[in-house]
Amino acid sequence: MFSIVCLGSGPMLKHCMRASMCYSMARPQPKLDANHTKGRFNSCVAVVTGGASGINRACVSRFLNDGASVAFLDIDQDSGKQLESELKGEGLDAAYYHVDVSNRDACSKAAVDIADKHGGSINYVINGAACFIFKGMDASTSDWEKTLNVNVVGYANMVQACHPYMKKAEPGCRAVVNIASITGHVPKRNRWTYDASKGAVLQLTRCMALDLAKNGIRVNSVSPAVINTPSTH
Ligand SMILES: NC(=O)c1ccc[n+]([C@@H]2O[C@H](COP(=O)([O-])OP(=O)(O)OC[C@H]3O[C@@H](n4cnc5c(N)ncnc54)[C@H](O)[C@@H]3O)[C@@H](O)[C@H]2O)c1
Repeated sequence: MFSIVCLGSGPMLKHCMRASMCYSMARPQPKLDANHTKGRFNSCVAVVTGGASGINRACVSRFLNDGASVAFLDIDQDSGKQLESELKGEGLDAAYYHVDVSNRDACSKAAVDIADKHGGSINYVINGAACFIFKGMDASTSDWEKTLNVNVVGYANMVQACHPYMKKAEPGCRAVVNIASITGHVPKRNRWTYDASKGAVLQLTRCMALDLAKNGIRVNSVSPAVINTPSTH
């Protein structure tokens, strides 16, 4: 079922309505609640950066619910270790890696370790680790370096590190999701650093998608609005 709200008339509107109706009819939406998606990622390996907290932590939980083995990377060792032990206690296949995603060598080493433990392949990478520095005219060079090194270079580091193993994953089960933000589309005042970094994630995603399509790896971004997590407090 779908509904369309008409705010105009003419050939263009009719065309849009026809296209929208065809799309809706051709692509019934799958049920996505956690009970319906159990098992869809059986035998898959997912890597989640920033996975010890917030949205990324929810991604870790959902991948596990859906049957994947999950490796999550974070700089918050206490939270990471605690989450790992909670998840393992529930019999889930989750492993914490203490990695700063702005460190390219550390990303590469983690990717090698993860692939070694899972038969040499990685299916999914979720890039979500983020540095929340909100500075405008007052941004220092160090503010810029920290923000861009985590939020942009860190995303590239993980994809570059995992790419050799993603190419070996089962075709059709290879994807990257980069967590951007609504602020990558719509700027807020006095937030040049964070908002510019999220705008860069959008374009980085397009660049990656172009280059990784030949390996059957889909690359997309998501742009959340405000979600109540430790970073918003
Ligand atoms: N919460 C929101 O309202 C919101 C809105 C839009 C986009 N986002 C994006 O969603 C993602 C998750 O945000 P969140 O609100 O859940 O944040 P969060 O603070 O709960 O989690 C971020 C995690 O990233 C980790 N991290 C920070 N720097 C790191 C580094 N260098 N290497 C590895 N890990 C590092 C932190 O330790 C933390 O565990 C981010 O990319 C953020 O920009 C959040």
